[in-house]
Amino acid sequence: MKRFQTRALISEWVRHQKATGKMIGFVPTMGALHEGHISLVEQAKQENNLVVCSIFVNPIQFNKPEDLKKYPRTLDADLEKLGKAGCDAVFFPTEKEMYPEPETTVYDFGMLDKVMEGRYREGHFNGVAVVVKKLFDTIQPHRAYFGEKDFQQLQIIKAMVRIESMDVEIISCPTVRESDGLAMSSRNIRLTEDQRRDAALIHTALKMGKERFQTHNINDIRQFVINYVNASPHLEVEYFEIVRADTLMPVAPEGDKDEKVVGCIAVYAGKVRLIDNMAFNS
Ligand code: PAF
Repeated sequence: MKRFQTRALISEWVRHQKATGKMIGFVPTMGALHEGHISLVEQAKQENNLVVCSIFVNPIQFNKPEDLKKYPRTLDADLEKLGKAGCDAVFFPTEKEMYPEPETTVYDFGMLDKVMEGRYREGHFNGVAVVVKKLFDTIQPHRAYFGEKDFQQLQIIKAMVRIESMDVEIISCPTVRESDGLAMSSRNIRLTEDQRRDAALIHTALKMGKERFQTHNINDIRQFVINYVNASPHLEVEYFEIVRADTLMPVAPEGDKDEKVVGCIAVYAGKVRLIDNMAFNS
């Protein structure tokens, strides 16, 4: 596996590979890799000739300095996992390399970044969009792979690609779960034993919400899911919204149940914030 730390060198390597007709799949990450990330690499390997991954803990997408500080950094283990997964090249730049000048780009995503995560994490999605744009500019991949666990992020990245008219195909990949249903996340290692056990209730609640979708009122489903999760002394729901998949706008109480609808949830387990989602009508 090739290793690069500068934008210029990885750009040159990719350019050379593309000139020989290779299709490039790209998996951007912030490291602390788990099976969810590896599944993205595996899918990218199946669909492209070469796979490039990036590992960069992007400071401008953290709205709380303590979250940035606490974010797990496990570079050696990550490089080993990527090597084993058959990744062809890894890009792990420094902060100075990615942001030689302070960043000033501000995207207009309409309501997409105002709801759910956007309401609680101001500036987060702008930071994500800025770094993904820079990474796409650097790597110039044919396809880029993102997990559906970060459903809102996926919509933001698709919107950024549209706004910037970028020629990269965004591939969304299914959430990888632990055997009890908890969505894999780099944050799960910070859960205590009790929090970890009860965190599986989040997925159960979403499944039960989905079961009720065709027969119950949206407000009742919302309240049911929130109460189900909050019944654990170790969990507290920050939000649970039932939204249209394309606009992320809440579905009206007796809304059109034929449109594609997703239930999106954020839950605190102590100080650890977990998110998950489920398609309610597919
Ligand atoms: O999902 C993530 O790990 C990050 O938000 C991403 C897309 C790598 C941008 O920093």
